[in-house]
Amino acid sequence: MNDQHGFTLWFTGLSGAGKTTVALALEKELRARGVKVERLDGDTVRKSLTRDLGFSKEDRDKNIERVTFVAKLLSRNGVAVLASFISPYRETRAMVRAETTNFIEVFVHAPLEVCAQRDVKGMYAKAFAGEIPDFTGVSDPYEEPLDPEITLHTHEETVEQSAAKCLTYLEEHGYIPVAESA
Ligand SMILES: Nc1ncnc2c1ncn2[C@@H]1O[C@H](COP(=O)(O)OP(=O)(O)OP(=O)(O)O)[C@@H](O)[C@H]1O
Ligand SMILES: [Mg+2]
Repeated sequence: MNDQHGFTLWFTGLSGAGKTTVALALEKELRARGVKVERLDGDTVRKSLTRDLGFSKEDRDKNIERVTFVAKLLSRNGVAVLASFISPYRETRAMVRAETTNFIEVFVHAPLEVCAQRDVKGMYAKAFAGEIPDFTGVSDPYEEPLDPEITLHTHEETVEQSAAKCLTYLEEHGYIPVAESA
């Protein structure tokens, strides 16, 4: 495959909004199409590359800075980067945009109540009980994107629909070849 362009698809949103779920679905589809993909995800990165960091603003920024360095190297070498990080600060995301190749901001949105109801990791219950001092959306800020390239409303869409929105965007902007059969 020689018509692949590197890009950085950056999923931002509350915990439980669906960043990892959509990125996994996309990874599968892109691989099936022969695209070189690397997925960077908060959960895995925080156990390796940034395991020394916590959740203060300073540490959240450091987490994203290191990940950005990796995304920069990959995206400029033709790799499709799927990055799933809460990344709550606008200014930090602007830094990622400036550093990486073909940055595409994906706002993965679901109302806080829906994310809390999903409570995939059981963290919201603890956050609402006051047991987590810096939990995004509850006891820590989340700055919504002002002008994202893509917005997913995961409380109203299936995972397949959300992933398809991203694929369509990538095809329409020439980042991946258009699928031969529909
Ligand atoms: N359209 C959709 N897109 C993504 N997830 C969806 C959608 N509809 C329902 N869901 C469900 O929402 C949940 C999203 O959880 P997921 O772990 O992907 O969130 P996350 O944003 O990665 O959270 P965290 O920041 O904690 O890692 C899953 O249980 C998923 O099945
Ligand atoms: Mg996740």
